Amino acid sequence: MTQQAHDRLLIIDFGSQVTQLIARRLRELNVYCEIHPYNRVDDAFLQAFAPKAVIFSGGPASVYWDNAPMPPKAVFDLGVPILGICYGQQVMMHCLGGHVEGGHGTAEFGKAFVTPTDQTHPILAGWFPAEAGPQAQEQVWMSHGDHVSKIAPGFQVYGTSPNAPFAITADPARHFYAVQFHPEVHHTPKGAQLYENFVRLAGFKGDWTMGAYRAEAIAKIRAQVGDGKVICALSGGVDSSVAAVLIHEAIGDQLTCVFVDHGLLRLGEAEQVVTMFRDHYNMPLIHADESALFLGALEGVSDPEVKRKTIGRLFIDVFQKHATAVGGAKFLAQGTLYPDVIESVSFSGGPSVTIKSHHNVGGLPEKMGLKLVEPLRELFKDEVRALGRELGLPQSFIGRHPFPGPGLAIRCPGEITTEKLDILRRADAVYIDQIRKHGLYDEIWQAFAAILPMKTVGVMGDGRTYDYALALRAVTSVDGMTADYYPFTHDFLGETATRIINEVKGINRVFYDCTSKPPGTIELE
Ligand code: XMP
Repeated sequence: MTQQAHDRLLIIDFGSQVTQLIARRLRELNVYCEIHPYNRVDDAFLQAFAPKAVIFSGGPASVYWDNAPMPPKAVFDLGVPILGICYGQQVMMHCLGGHVEGGHGTAEFGKAFVTPTDQTHPILAGWFPAEAGPQAQEQVWMSHGDHVSKIAPGFQVYGTSPNAPFAITADPARHFYAVQFHPEVHHTPKGAQLYENFVRLAGFKGDWTMGAYRAEAIAKIRAQVGDGKVICALSGGVDSSVAAVLIHEAIGDQLTCVFVDHGLLRLGEAEQVVTMFRDHYNMPLIHADESALFLGALEGVSDPEVKRKTIGRLFIDVFQKHATAVGGAKFLAQGTLYPDVIESVSFSGGPSVTIKSHHNVGGLPEKMGLKLVEPLRELFKDEVRALGRELGLPQSFIGRHPFPGPGLAIRCPGEITTEKLDILRRADAVYIDQIRKHGLYDEIWQAFAAILPMKTVGVMGDGRTYDYALALRAVTSVDGMTADYYPFTHDFLGETATRIINEVKGINRVFYDCTSKPPGTIELE
């Protein structure tokens, strides 16, 4: 599914760790772009994609490697503006007759300052204040091994830094731009401005808006599905909720949602989801209460991977059973996002280690002979939230912290019992209530309580208690890949511990988890 009606920008990925950030910066400018690995971009692809501009990402390679990643030659003949970033600059110069040098002493990592050699070109609009004159400098973020030692014919230098004499270069006649630093990262404060200048020079109108996306997505869903039936596994999370509301708007009651209640949800969660989608949105919704099945299968299980695999397997069986009951469904809707779709360029080879078996409904489409409907495939998480707002989903739903598929099972290390789940649900509700009351919910990426597999001795009133200990977790993060613990005040922690112990029978001790990720993970299992 591509957005043919919009001006399209092509990002050719050479394997940088931060290529996705280039796309983020462009989407913020309402520019439609797609990332494609260099080895998939050939002449035919370029013709079909018809980009209005192209960006070459950075990457870990050297142009002198055997089989160094190269763009197709035809890209330089398209007659459209090109911006090369870091390795993208080097490969551009290499292809167009410049020179790149590597080896000892040319590497540069971290903060650097660029001084303008010519401030007049619009690619540098807003970068250097005119009054600062030639003394002006601007912080940029460098991360390169090789560097350009001779620019290609037609190029001029617009900015220079002590270790990168060709920090900002351009061939104004062809609208080719090439920079040694990374404008997409936070540590290049004027980086977003550089991208804005580039897309304005390339003539982009900035017509990629959520309103336009919604209308186009609805038309596409209708065209794909016709009068067929669609089923959707609704978890109550943001992605599946937004996908369901969008598809429902497109095809109404041809969509049936299946909400599998595995007995591992938070306090009041099942009621909230069912009320919202069945009563408020009037969607056909099957509320599959399968808690007895899941909790029965998990009895006596304490190994985290066995828990995850058991839940994943049962989820698929249960979903399949209820979906089959709908009769004649030809499509399965999923809230797949763009970061899951981007095919990343791997230079390390070999699969990465499995830390946790994540739970999803993968494998179902083939098993059930269903086609996929994935209307969020082109969106980043914050864009999905924006679309949710556009569709009128309440902010309380859109801003919810992520909740994992295996639910409370992985917040109950060791054996799961209904008693522990009940205590955990009530303690978690008090904790989240505290966070909301103190106005901290939106500052925190994810917060939850976990019940620990140990009992400790306490004293309440004049009596002895022997109850469970609770761990509180709250993290800041951008994408869940890395995270830091949230720095609550001691007052907040003390007040919350007191409330939990007073209000939740079964807990007599509360810990706060100060582990970042890595080395920890966000969930306890
Ligand atoms: P970890 O614990 O791996 O979690 O640091 C990172 C993020 O992923 C969520 N998570 C899951 N989400 N299915 C999901 O849909 C899963 O099996 C799963 N396991 C972890 C976790 O809540 C955090 O946001």
